Formats: sequence, C-alpha cells, structure tokens
Amino acid sequence: MKAIVFESYTGHTKKYAELLGQKTGLPVYERKEASKHLARQDEIIYMGWLMASSIKGYKNALKDYNVKAVCGVGMRRANEDALKDMIEANKITGTKAFYLQGGYDGNKVRGFYKLLMKMASKFMINEIEKKEVKTDADLETLDLLKNGGSLVKEENLAPILEWLGN
Ligand SMILES: Cc1cc2nc3c(=O)[nH]c(=O)nc-3n(C[C@H](O)[C@H](O)[C@H](O)COP(=O)(O)O)c2cc1C
Repeated sequence: MKAIVFESYTGHTKKYAELLGQKTGLPVYERKEASKHLARQDEIIYMGWLMASSIKGYKNALKDYNVKAVCGVGMRRANEDALKDMIEANKITGTKAFYLQGGYDGNKVRGFYKLLMKMASKFMINEIEKKEVKTDADLETLDLLKNGGSLVKEENLAPILEWLGN
C-alpha cells in the first residue's frame, strides 16, 4: 500500500485519514494534491465524506489509482446497514469497503451544501420526532443535527487496521 488519499469538507475525514496515517506509517494526501506524490495506479486506501449517499471523490480516485479499500465517512451511526447502503449507492465492487461515523459541523457548511442540508435536516428531524420510541441512534442523530459535534474515535479504525494486518 502506497498511501492514504482523502477528501474532507469539514475535517472529520481528514482527522480519520491522519489517525490512520499515524497508525500505519502510510503517507496521507488530500485527493486534489495526491497526484504530486503518487503515480497512476499506485495502491491506495481512499477515504471520502458522504454527500447525499455519495462518497466524494471516489469515482475520480478509481480512475487515478488502484483503490484497494474505500472508506466513507458520514454522520450516520456505523453498522451493517450503513455499510450496505454505502456499497449499493456507490456501486462498490471488488474493493474492500468500510464505513465510519464522522460528525456534523453546520458552521462550516456553505452555499449549495447548506441548502441541501437544511432540507435534509428538517426532514430527518421531523421523521425522528414523529417516532413514539426513539432509539439511541435516533437521539444521537437529533443531537448531531441540532447541535453538531464530532464522533471521530481512533478505535473506529480497528477493522481497517485488522484488514491491513497491522
Ligand atoms: C450536503 C450534505 C450532505 C450529506 N449527506 C450525508 C449522507 O447522505 N449520509 C451521511 O451519513 N452523512 C451525510 N452528511 C454528513 C457528512 O457526511 C458528515 O458530516 C461527515 O462527517 C463529513 O465529513 P467531513 O467533515 O470530512 O467533511 C452530509 C452532509 C452535508 C453537508
């Protein structure tokens, strides 16, 4: 494996990429800068934030590098469904996939993304508030949407480190 390449909008994916870099000793590059350091088809781990279910930059990373593993970072709690939905939405085949929970920082979201998130938050908050019984994950999502916060934790990287044999 040559490097970890990432794309992050508000910093959570960057934090995971840096933590993974520290744990593995692999160099960490932002996607738009990565071609200065890597050759085409170098083996990489790609990490991208989730925007309307899509892993930002993943398609471009696939064109440029040999993506051995892809890791999406979203605000949803990590579980099998979150991973399955991510794999389906991004048509991930033949590449190892991981999903990590990042967080939400509304203060850093601007322009079109702000508009999109305003609509999505309203919908998600309504859906959760309608429920008679709210799960822990529902309450966590409500809190993230209303107050923001980071749920980035080093221990969430354990499955990736295990896959890498570290
Ligand atoms: C416009 C927009 C769309 C988003 N769509 C999703 C989504 O579909 N699924 C999800 O889990 N999180 C979604 N999020 C939340 C981000 O993926 C989450 O905040 C993530 O931690 C951002 O990573 P970053 O800090 O590296 O940019 C969305 C955020 C924004 C601003």
